[in-house]
Amino acid sequence: MNENIIAIDGPAGSGKSSVAREIAQRSTYQYFDSGAYYRAVTLYFMKRHEELGGKGKFYDFLNHYEFLNKLNSIQLSATLQKKSENLIFLGQEDVTIEIRHPEVTGNIKYLAPYREVRDFINANLIELARVNRLIMDGRDIGTEVFPDAKFKFFLTADAKIRARRRWDELKEQGIDTDYEKLLEEIQKRDESDQNRKIAPLKQAEDAFLIDTSNLSKNVVINMILSRI
Ligand code: CDP
Repeated sequence: MNENIIAIDGPAGSGKSSVAREIAQRSTYQYFDSGAYYRAVTLYFMKRHEELGGKGKFYDFLNHYEFLNKLNSIQLSATLQKKSENLIFLGQEDVTIEIRHPEVTGNIKYLAPYREVRDFINANLIELARVNRLIMDGRDIGTEVFPDAKFKFFLTADAKIRARRRWDELKEQGIDTDYEKLLEEIQKRDESDQNRKIAPLKQAEDAFLIDTSNLSKNVVINMILSRI
Protein backbone atom coordinates (compact mmCIF):
# COMPACT_ATOMS: atom_id res chain seq x y z
CA MET A 1 0.00 0.00 0.00
CA ASN A 2 1.39 3.33 -1.07
CA GLU A 3 0.59 5.93 1.58
CA ASN A 4 2.25 8.66 -0.43
CA ILE A 5 -0.54 8.84 -3.01
CA ILE A 6 -4.10 10.06 -2.76
CA ALA A 7 -5.89 9.24 -6.03
CA ILE A 8 -8.89 11.31 -7.04
CA ASP A 9 -10.63 10.20 -10.22
CA GLY A 10 -13.80 11.28 -11.91
CA PRO A 11 -15.32 13.03 -14.92
CA ALA A 12 -14.85 16.69 -15.94
CA GLY A 13 -16.48 19.12 -13.53
CA SER A 14 -16.95 16.63 -10.69
CA GLY A 15 -14.94 18.93 -8.41
CA LYS A 16 -11.73 16.88 -8.33
CA SER A 17 -9.26 19.65 -8.95
CA SER A 18 -10.67 22.30 -6.60
CA VAL A 19 -11.05 19.77 -3.79
CA ALA A 20 -7.61 18.22 -4.36
CA ARG A 21 -5.96 21.64 -4.53
CA GLU A 22 -7.36 22.65 -1.18
CA ILE A 23 -6.50 19.35 0.48
CA ALA A 24 -2.92 19.86 -0.69
CA GLN A 25 -2.87 23.28 0.95
CA ARG A 26 -4.05 21.80 4.22
CA SER A 27 -1.77 18.75 4.24
CA THR A 28 1.73 17.55 3.47
CA TYR A 29 0.64 16.31 0.03
CA GLN A 30 1.40 18.23 -3.18
CA TYR A 31 -1.34 18.59 -5.76
CA PHE A 32 -0.84 17.32 -9.29
CA ASP A 33 -3.37 17.29 -12.09
CA SER A 34 -2.50 14.39 -14.42
CA GLY A 35 -4.67 15.97 -17.12
CA ALA A 36 -1.98 18.67 -17.42
CA TYR A 37 0.38 16.07 -18.93
CA TYR A 38 -2.30 14.86 -21.38
CA ARG A 39 -2.74 18.50 -22.35
CA ALA A 40 1.02 19.09 -22.69
CA VAL A 41 1.56 16.04 -24.92
CA THR A 42 -1.37 17.14 -27.11
CA LEU A 43 0.03 20.67 -27.32
CA TYR A 44 3.47 19.31 -28.26
CA PHE A 45 2.04 17.66 -31.38
CA MET A 46 -0.16 20.68 -32.18
CA LYS A 47 3.03 22.75 -32.22
CA ARG A 48 4.75 20.28 -34.58
CA HIS A 49 1.67 20.43 -36.84
CA GLU A 50 1.87 24.21 -36.90
CA GLU A 51 5.62 24.20 -37.59
CA LEU A 52 5.03 21.99 -40.59
CA GLY A 53 2.52 24.43 -42.07
CA GLY A 54 -0.58 23.47 -40.09
CA LYS A 55 -2.33 22.10 -43.16
CA GLY A 56 -5.19 19.60 -42.92
CA LYS A 57 -6.87 18.24 -39.83
CA PHE A 58 -4.81 17.62 -36.68
CA TYR A 59 -6.05 14.03 -36.61
CA ASP A 60 -4.73 13.34 -40.14
CA PHE A 61 -1.46 15.06 -39.34
CA LEU A 62 -0.93 12.77 -36.32
CA ASN A 63 -1.15 9.65 -38.43
CA HIS A 64 1.17 10.93 -41.14
CA TYR A 65 3.62 12.17 -38.55
CA GLU A 66 3.82 8.71 -36.93
CA PHE A 67 3.41 10.42 -33.61
CA LEU A 68 3.69 7.25 -31.50
CA ASN A 69 7.33 6.91 -32.55
CA LYS A 70 8.04 10.48 -31.45
CA LEU A 71 6.80 10.31 -27.86
CA ASN A 72 10.27 9.81 -26.48
CA SER A 73 11.42 13.14 -27.86
CA ILE A 74 8.96 14.95 -25.56
CA GLN A 75 10.51 16.40 -22.42
CA LEU A 76 7.73 16.80 -19.88
CA SER A 77 8.32 18.35 -16.49
CA ALA A 78 6.55 20.23 -13.74
CA THR A 79 7.36 22.57 -10.89
CA LEU A 80 4.98 21.79 -8.06
CA GLN A 81 3.83 24.75 -6.01
CA LYS A 82 1.71 24.87 -2.88
CA LYS A 83 0.33 28.36 -3.11
CA SER A 84 -0.19 28.83 -6.81
CA GLU A 85 -0.73 26.87 -10.01
CA ASN A 86 1.88 24.19 -10.80
CA LEU A 87 4.11 25.11 -13.72
CA ILE A 88 4.16 22.72 -16.66
CA PHE A 89 7.07 22.63 -19.13
CA LEU A 90 7.72 21.18 -22.56
CA GLY A 91 11.51 21.17 -22.66
CA GLN A 92 12.43 24.66 -21.39
CA GLU A 93 9.13 26.22 -22.46
CA ASP A 94 6.54 27.10 -19.81
CA VAL A 95 3.21 25.94 -21.28
CA THR A 96 1.12 26.29 -18.09
CA ILE A 97 -1.34 28.70 -19.71
CA GLU A 98 -1.32 27.38 -23.26
CA ILE A 99 -2.33 23.84 -22.29
CA ARG A 100 -5.70 25.18 -21.01
CA HIS A 101 -6.72 26.44 -24.45
CA PRO A 102 -10.07 24.89 -25.56
CA GLU A 103 -8.47 23.76 -28.83
CA VAL A 104 -6.06 21.61 -26.80
CA THR A 105 -8.95 20.22 -24.72
CA GLY A 106 -10.73 19.25 -27.95
CA ASN A 107 -7.69 17.44 -29.39
CA ILE A 108 -6.77 15.26 -26.37
CA LYS A 109 -9.23 12.62 -27.47
CA TYR A 110 -7.02 11.76 -30.48
CA LEU A 111 -4.10 10.85 -28.21
CA ALA A 112 -5.51 9.66 -24.86
CA PRO A 113 -6.79 6.29 -26.19
CA TYR A 114 -3.31 5.04 -27.15
CA ARG A 115 -1.52 2.64 -24.84
CA GLU A 116 1.86 4.14 -25.85
CA VAL A 117 0.73 7.66 -24.96
CA ARG A 118 -0.70 6.53 -21.62
CA ASP A 119 2.45 4.52 -20.76
CA PHE A 120 4.62 7.50 -21.59
CA ILE A 121 2.55 9.83 -19.38
CA ASN A 122 2.27 7.26 -16.60
CA ALA A 123 6.07 6.89 -16.49
CA ASN A 124 6.31 10.66 -16.02
CA LEU A 125 3.65 10.59 -13.28
CA ILE A 126 5.44 7.77 -11.47
CA GLU A 127 8.67 9.73 -11.68
CA LEU A 128 6.97 12.74 -10.04
CA ALA A 129 5.66 10.48 -7.28
CA ARG A 130 9.14 9.11 -6.62
CA VAL A 131 10.18 12.43 -5.14
CA ASN A 132 6.86 13.88 -3.86
CA ARG A 133 3.86 12.85 -1.76
CA LEU A 134 1.02 13.53 -4.14
CA ILE A 135 -2.69 14.07 -4.24
CA MET A 136 -3.28 13.43 -7.93
CA ASP A 137 -6.47 13.79 -9.92
CA GLY A 138 -7.35 12.22 -13.25
CA ARG A 139 -9.34 9.45 -14.86
CA ASP A 140 -7.30 6.33 -14.12
CA ILE A 141 -5.05 7.22 -11.18
CA GLY A 142 -6.58 4.68 -8.79
CA THR A 143 -7.09 1.99 -11.43
CA GLU A 144 -3.98 2.14 -13.65
CA VAL A 145 -1.31 4.55 -12.53
CA PHE A 146 -1.24 3.88 -8.78
CA PRO A 147 -3.41 0.80 -8.18
CA ASP A 148 -1.55 0.43 -4.86
CA ALA A 149 -2.51 3.91 -3.58
CA LYS A 150 -3.78 3.68 -0.03
CA PHE A 151 -6.37 6.42 -0.49
CA LYS A 152 -8.68 6.41 -3.51
CA PHE A 153 -11.72 8.54 -4.19
CA PHE A 154 -14.08 8.66 -7.15
CA LEU A 155 -15.97 11.92 -7.51
CA THR A 156 -18.99 12.22 -9.73
CA ALA A 157 -21.98 14.53 -10.27
CA ASP A 158 -24.89 14.95 -12.62
CA ALA A 159 -23.68 16.19 -16.06
CA LYS A 160 -25.94 19.26 -15.93
CA ILE A 161 -24.51 20.29 -12.59
CA ARG A 162 -20.97 19.72 -13.85
CA ALA A 163 -21.62 21.90 -16.91
CA ARG A 164 -23.09 24.60 -14.69
CA ARG A 165 -19.95 24.54 -12.50
CA ARG A 166 -17.74 24.93 -15.56
CA TRP A 167 -19.94 27.82 -16.69
CA ASP A 168 -19.57 29.53 -13.29
CA GLU A 169 -15.80 28.97 -13.28
CA LEU A 170 -15.41 30.54 -16.71
CA LYS A 171 -17.74 33.40 -15.79
CA GLU A 172 -15.52 34.12 -12.80
CA GLN A 173 -12.57 34.41 -15.18
CA GLY A 174 -14.61 36.89 -17.25
CA ILE A 175 -15.37 34.38 -20.02
CA ASP A 176 -18.98 34.20 -21.21
CA THR A 177 -19.84 30.83 -22.71
CA ASP A 178 -22.90 29.03 -23.97
CA TYR A 179 -24.18 26.65 -21.28
CA GLU A 180 -25.67 24.20 -23.80
CA LYS A 181 -22.35 24.01 -25.62
CA LEU A 182 -20.49 23.31 -22.38
CA LEU A 183 -22.95 20.56 -21.49
CA GLU A 184 -22.50 18.99 -24.89
CA GLU A 185 -18.71 19.19 -24.59
CA ILE A 186 -18.81 17.54 -21.15
CA GLN A 187 -21.10 14.76 -22.38
CA LYS A 188 -18.86 14.11 -25.38
CA ARG A 189 -15.79 13.95 -23.14
CA ASP A 190 -17.56 11.58 -20.70
CA GLU A 191 -18.43 9.37 -23.62
CA SER A 192 -14.88 9.18 -24.99
CA ASP A 193 -13.31 8.80 -21.51
CA GLN A 194 -15.71 6.04 -20.44
CA ASN A 195 -15.65 4.09 -23.66
CA ARG A 196 -12.00 3.95 -24.57
CA LYS A 197 -10.68 0.39 -24.46
CA ILE A 198 -7.52 1.23 -22.58
CA ALA A 199 -7.71 2.71 -19.07
CA PRO A 200 -11.29 3.99 -19.34
CA LEU A 201 -12.74 6.30 -16.71
CA LYS A 202 -14.19 4.02 -14.06
CA GLN A 203 -14.32 3.71 -10.31
CA ALA A 204 -11.62 1.48 -8.78
CA GLU A 205 -13.18 -1.31 -6.71
CA ASP A 206 -11.50 -0.03 -3.59
CA ALA A 207 -12.26 3.68 -4.22
CA PHE A 208 -14.67 5.63 -2.05
CA LEU A 209 -17.48 7.09 -4.18
CA ILE A 210 -18.69 10.64 -3.57
CA ASP A 211 -21.57 12.09 -5.58
CA THR A 212 -20.92 15.81 -5.28
CA SER A 213 -24.13 16.92 -7.07
CA ASN A 214 -25.68 18.32 -3.91
CA LEU A 215 -22.61 18.72 -1.71
CA SER A 216 -20.60 21.87 -1.09
CA LYS A 217 -16.86 21.85 -1.72
CA ASN A 218 -16.20 22.04 2.02
CA VAL A 219 -18.33 19.01 2.79
CA VAL A 220 -16.47 16.98 0.15
CA ILE A 221 -13.09 18.15 1.48
CA ASN A 222 -14.05 17.12 4.99
CA MET A 223 -15.31 13.73 3.83
CA ILE A 224 -11.93 13.09 2.22
CA LEU A 225 -9.86 14.51 5.07
CA SER A 226 -11.70 12.39 7.60
CA ARG A 227 -10.79 9.26 5.63
CA ILE A 228 -7.13 10.05 5.26
O1 CDP B 1 -10.09 19.26 -15.79
P1 CDP B 1 -10.77 18.62 -16.95
O2 CDP B 1 -11.68 17.54 -16.56
O3 CDP B 1 -11.37 19.57 -17.92
O4 CDP B 1 -9.71 17.89 -17.83
P2 CDP B 1 -8.26 17.37 -17.48
O5 CDP B 1 -8.22 16.73 -16.14
O6 CDP B 1 -7.33 18.47 -17.78
O7 CDP B 1 -8.12 16.20 -18.55
C1 CDP B 1 -8.31 16.45 -19.91
C2 CDP B 1 -8.48 15.13 -20.65
O8 CDP B 1 -7.28 14.34 -20.51
C3 CDP B 1 -9.59 14.22 -20.13
O9 CDP B 1 -10.85 14.47 -20.71
C4 CDP B 1 -9.08 12.83 -20.52
O10 CDP B 1 -9.43 12.53 -21.85
C5 CDP B 1 -7.58 12.96 -20.47
N1 CDP B 1 -7.05 12.36 -19.24
C6 CDP B 1 -6.90 11.00 -19.19
O11 CDP B 1 -7.23 10.30 -20.16
N2 CDP B 1 -6.37 10.40 -18.08
C7 CDP B 1 -6.02 11.13 -17.02
N3 CDP B 1 -5.49 10.51 -15.96
C8 CDP B 1 -6.20 12.53 -17.02
C9 CDP B 1 -6.72 13.12 -18.16
